[in-house]
Amino acid sequence: MADILAQKPLDGKKIVLGVTGGIAAYKAVEVVSRLRKAGAEVHVIMTRAAQDFVTELTFREISGQAVTTSMWEKVTQHKVEHIALANLADLMLVVPATANFLAKAAAGLADDMLTTTLLATQAPVFLAPAMNTNMYENPVTQKNLRELAARGFHLIEPASGLLACGVTGKGRLPEPVDIVAQVISFCAKERDLLGRKILVTAGGTREPLDPVRYLGNRSTGRMGYAIAQAAAARGAKVVLVSGPSALPVPSGVRRVSVETAREMREAVLREFDDADAVIKAAAVADYRPKNVAANKIKKSEGEFTLVLERNPDILWELGQKKRQQVLVGFAAETTKLEEYARGKLAKKNLDFIVANDVSRADAGFAVDTNCAKLFMRDGTVHDCPLTSKAELAGIILDHVRECLP
Ligand code: CTP
Repeated sequence: MADILAQKPLDGKKIVLGVTGGIAAYKAVEVVSRLRKAGAEVHVIMTRAAQDFVTELTFREISGQAVTTSMWEKVTQHKVEHIALANLADLMLVVPATANFLAKAAAGLADDMLTTTLLATQAPVFLAPAMNTNMYENPVTQKNLRELAARGFHLIEPASGLLACGVTGKGRLPEPVDIVAQVISFCAKERDLLGRKILVTAGGTREPLDPVRYLGNRSTGRMGYAIAQAAAARGAKVVLVSGPSALPVPSGVRRVSVETAREMREAVLREFDDADAVIKAAAVADYRPKNVAANKIKKSEGEFTLVLERNPDILWELGQKKRQQVLVGFAAETTKLEEYARGKLAKKNLDFIVANDVSRADAGFAVDTNCAKLFMRDGTVHDCPLTSKAELAGIILDHVRECLP
């Protein structure tokens, strides 16, 4: 670890470190020290209760920066408006995060400088919960943690052992060296797709019936847009071939808008040859109306029969053409998840497939969370329990990175 720190892996990073009032607050001092050794500029915010455990002076000396202890103080070293630190942060870290703090964060309260900054920041946030085992295991704390994870917060798993309160169990703050290692590895992979071209498809396709109607599906594009955004943030050149979607184009991403499956196929094939990876999150219509009426279809008495014909399977075609490209498919299923996912993985010649059960209310269409299983070509399976689509996007890209030559 000492060697890693000497390489200054956090050079140029501005980290805002929140300290809340738990006995483990003293360990935050070492976290600050290690972050600084790794090259980061660290700005500490202490809650009122944290100041009962460690003095502001300690953090000021260790961080070499003014320490924020209240919303209204007169700080001389730098101008502290209440969202200045939120804007400045490249990353935020709360060590330790008490049960009370987690509850406030989950509820979106902003009654002190730390919670206000947390609410205002757009930077990735790491939380290191530490508390008595019973408090940690209390269903309300667990609910708050799930809620925070679903919103994209990175939770640093507490360790088990003898706690300060005399109880043995889960709830101990991990060692500072481990906390800092997690931050370093997160930042290291930040630009790990630099120079790679990643093609992402998103949204549902629309197959016209007549000039005013189409056959479509419930896909909103959120999963694909989250992947495109995360890949661009990690340095990739991203082309997003998207069916109609209300979502904004993520910054740094080139969007190619399409409507039908056949348009999507053409756009994807145009971009395929020099792509390093293709991630097909789009919900492509398997069928289209055989005849598209030139004029609006008028109703008549009795039944109406619509004849459909097959659309091309874009991903299957890519599987046939594939050379160096990493191919990732999605399988949204309501039954026999594993069987269908593995079938598609083999048939379409994929590197891996992201399968999710869309019959769950908290996964699949038009929600911000997803829980998925990744079936890899070599037979291994990775379980991703309920998490935000942003976090799942990160996990998918980690695996893409591993598959890249
Ligand atoms: N896919 C595609 N072209 C199609 C249909 C699907 O490229 N015409 C891609 C999707 O983008 C997804 C994967 O194939 O990544 C699996 O899609 P899915 O609709 O779940 O599977 P299908 O092969 O269409 O099988 P089925 O509809 O029978 O479940």
